[in-house]
Amino acid sequence: MARILVDCDPGHDDAVALVTAAHYGELVGITTVGGNAPLADVTSNALLTCQLFDIQVDVHAGADRPLVAPPRHAPEIHGVSGFAGPSLPALERGPASSDGVDYLIDTIRSEEGLWLVPIGPLTNVALAFRQAPDLPRRLAGVSFMGGSATIGNHTPVAEFNVLVDPEAAAVVLASGAHIQMAGLDLTHQFVIDDGLVADIATIGGTGATVISELVVSYLDQVEQVRGLRKGGLHDPCAVLAVTHPEVIRHRLRRVDVELTGTFTRGMTVVDRRPGRVSDTEGADGQPLNVHHGHTLDHETARRLVLDAIAARSRADR
Ligand code: BDR
Ligand code: CA
Repeated sequence: MARILVDCDPGHDDAVALVTAAHYGELVGITTVGGNAPLADVTSNALLTCQLFDIQVDVHAGADRPLVAPPRHAPEIHGVSGFAGPSLPALERGPASSDGVDYLIDTIRSEEGLWLVPIGPLTNVALAFRQAPDLPRRLAGVSFMGGSATIGNHTPVAEFNVLVDPEAAAVVLASGAHIQMAGLDLTHQFVIDDGLVADIATIGGTGATVISELVVSYLDQVEQVRGLRKGGLHDPCAVLAVTHPEVIRHRLRRVDVELTGTFTRGMTVVDRRPGRVSDTEGADGQPLNVHHGHTLDHETARRLVLDAIAARSRADR
């Protein structure tokens, strides 16, 4: 069973990703990063998720702002707190520490072969990799949710996690780690709609009820902002890429992050041109650096995620 560190900014889809990782993997630790909402909020949301789904794992708060850019959140999608919608219980415990970056460094150094699954802006991971350049090679891999090979969500071409901290994403993509990307072109294949909400709500128990209410709130917000009552269940895809690799098809490609474009900052430029110089070099001779997830087995992914929520949603909590 894969041993997994999740770096997150819950967000309903981060919460589902945590449940999925705890159910199908050995979830070793959780770090949080400012993203969907400010750091204090997403840290509380990660702790709440653990509480609701009986996940006995420490949560360490990490960076509250990107490497270079000013902080940026997504209240129009996730609400100001990141967990808009349900009424939530009081927290029963606090974070284990506020040095998530040191926690990542120490943990990855203490054990070879961990998977790191970042599902928020890549700030913590970049800070850890910069401070400890031995980390990328100690990991089994980095399976991140972010970027896109096609359209963006927060700009026409940029996806939120990469847009919030493009400099951090560039550090991670250049790190030499085994990198798997779950970008929007993949995660939109995991459809969130009212049908998914109904299936989650039917499970019952406090955890599933909270998740279904979070997803309803997300759909309400998306409908208001984008005129569409539909979205992608993004973050669990990065977990499934580790726990159920057969569900996602990958191809090794060159991926770079646009750092300077007037209209394109935060875009991931995924080279999908046919032809390559070798198995390790792309069309322009640069090293192929990312295993790009391009096709999801939606039915299987949906069943796996619903099963994970069902197994961990407790009626008595
Ligand atoms: C990503 O941004 C956040 O809103 C989600 O949690 C996901 O990680 C999708 O762009
Ligand atoms: Ca996220």
